[in-house]
Amino acid sequence: MSIPYPLSTNPTCGDPDYSLHCDAGSQKLYFNALNGSSYLVIRIIASSQQMVVQPSPWIGNSCVTRDALVSEGLWLNQTPPFNLTSSNTIFFFNCSPRLLVSPLNCTSSSLCHRYLDSSGHIDKARAAQCAGNLEPCCAFVAGGIASAYKIRLHSLGCRAFRSILHLDPLKPSQLDCSPNSKCSGVAPDGPLRCLCNKGYVRDRTLATCLRTKKHTYSTLSIKISTGVVCFLCLTTVAATITLRKSCRLSNRAKLAKARDDMLKSSNLGKSARVFSLKELKKATSNFSRERLLGSGGFGEAYRGELPDGTLVAIKSAKVGNIMSTQQVLNEVGILSQVNHKNLVKLLGCCMEADVPLMVNEYIANGTLHDHVHGKRSTFLDWMTRLKIALQTAEALAYLHSAANTPIYHTDVKSTNILLDNDFNVKVADFGLSRFVQPGISHVSTCAQGTFGYLDPEYYRNQQLTDKSDVYSFGVVLLDLLTSQKAVDYTRDEDDVNLAIFVSQRAKNGDLKGVVDRKLLVTEPSTDILNSVKLFAELAFACVRDRKQDRPSMKDVVNELQCIFQHCKSQSLPLVASNVSMPA
Ligand SMILES: Nc1ncnc2c1ncn2[C@@H]1O[C@H](COP(=O)(O)OP(=O)(O)O)[C@@H](O)[C@H]1O
Ligand SMILES: [Mg+2]
Repeated sequence: MSIPYPLSTNPTCGDPDYSLHCDAGSQKLYFNALNGSSYLVIRIIASSQQMVVQPSPWIGNSCVTRDALVSEGLWLNQTPPFNLTSSNTIFFFNCSPRLLVSPLNCTSSSLCHRYLDSSGHIDKARAAQCAGNLEPCCAFVAGGIASAYKIRLHSLGCRAFRSILHLDPLKPSQLDCSPNSKCSGVAPDGPLRCLCNKGYVRDRTLATCLRTKKHTYSTLSIKISTGVVCFLCLTTVAATITLRKSCRLSNRAKLAKARDDMLKSSNLGKSARVFSLKELKKATSNFSRERLLGSGGFGEAYRGELPDGTLVAIKSAKVGNIMSTQQVLNEVGILSQVNHKNLVKLLGCCMEADVPLMVNEYIANGTLHDHVHGKRSTFLDWMTRLKIALQTAEALAYLHSAANTPIYHTDVKSTNILLDNDFNVKVADFGLSRFVQPGISHVSTCAQGTFGYLDPEYYRNQQLTDKSDVYSFGVVLLDLLTSQKAVDYTRDEDDVNLAIFVSQRAKNGDLKGVVDRKLLVTEPSTDILNSVKLFAELAFACVRDRKQDRPSMKDVVNELQCIFQHCKSQSLPLVASNVSMPA
């Protein structure tokens, strides 16, 4: 087997993050993934830049694979050039019951089950073993997975996986067909296909059915915007490559100019400006670790101080990570178009460095997550929680319906809700946000967001709508109501997901049992309990399964205003009482 660069079996050659080794005994080639698991390389297809590896062997007589114990699945380094491509179809096995309510499709009619029944890829005895463990026990994810860099196995999740390239279902069922299409045969005895309904036509790029006449313009505009985005990405990549090849300083200037042009075309807000790298280095004491506010998979945020004393938060992409660079540029593009008191303000950006830097106003009081989950150990009284909920809802309603072009945030969660010293909300982190054309369903190749907050319907259908933000916001409301985390593996197995956990308790008539106990400590007040109950009902409405059944963000704002005003007019005490919930 020939091994093309940047792969190599030689430790001093090739990309060290994707090393291969030859096993002298078996004379076979292995790929070393993170955390100690190795996978047999089946083939390397240089022309399509693909490497196909064999999933980990099964352990003894069980439906568990070896890598579940060694590395908790297949983990890749989050840097280019590799990821788990969308042409992968991943089959999960032996999943805990809590996953049956997760976005994974575990129904007995899913392709996964049919594959298991008929496939020669998995031996029959093993298939029966996996299928027998739990009904249903496997899941199927097509078109990429939530995280492009790992297939995670976990004792509370799934304990084995198999993966194949491109599963093309010959016999789909209605479940496999996208909206506006029907599962039927082209000829009477011919194979079944997903055929678009009358008035719709298949869009190969988006893999869905789009309306023929009315939406021609919309389809065109999607294509144009996709083209523009691709063009921007390509320009950035090309600029980066050029930058590396020739003299560093002069090319830095060239790149800065290219990015400046991009920013000019995206109309950097009036109050925002372009900062020099020198200024930002000075503001952050050369990006010192003490000034680090947070770091995630996609970059880092630093606290800085400008010469006039203005405090700023500077967010940088990860060096060499194209996706992270795109996210920061995307965030700059979006923040430069919005203006709302409850959205974090863009002060400017710097495009001279190897990676783009974004400069925002500094919000001093941490995130909602810090307060509710203990890092700052503040007790938030009921009125403050109501205020935070209302202001967050106002910011999202503005993005959905008042901004020039509607914007979906797509990563609403408590760590992205910043608070100032008066507990006013500033919604932040627009790395995954999207400008949208109203009335068009936006199809993603891969639903991104945060587990626990991510709308299951978006994950299943890959169709982004405003209601996905409504779902995530509903989880934030439950966060505020219960002071519990959206996903918490220390809770019982079936209660890991907060939305499911609280809805189940409320169904069983025990809402009071899950409301933050500290809220229920002083004088009894029926008014505040009513308010808590209305708040909970609103949260449940937001996390309803079907997006059509969820309220819009505008409705949510109206309802919260009502609850808030009512509480205010009653001059309610700051904490709720210790009586049982009204029925
Ligand atoms: N403007 C800001 N003011 C204060 N802290 C901030 C600001 N922006 C971000 N942070 C901190 O940095 C963390 C990461 O920033 P964020 O924008 O959410 O990026 P990401 O989650 O994509 O890494 C936040 O959770 C918050 O703690
Ligand atoms: Mg964030």
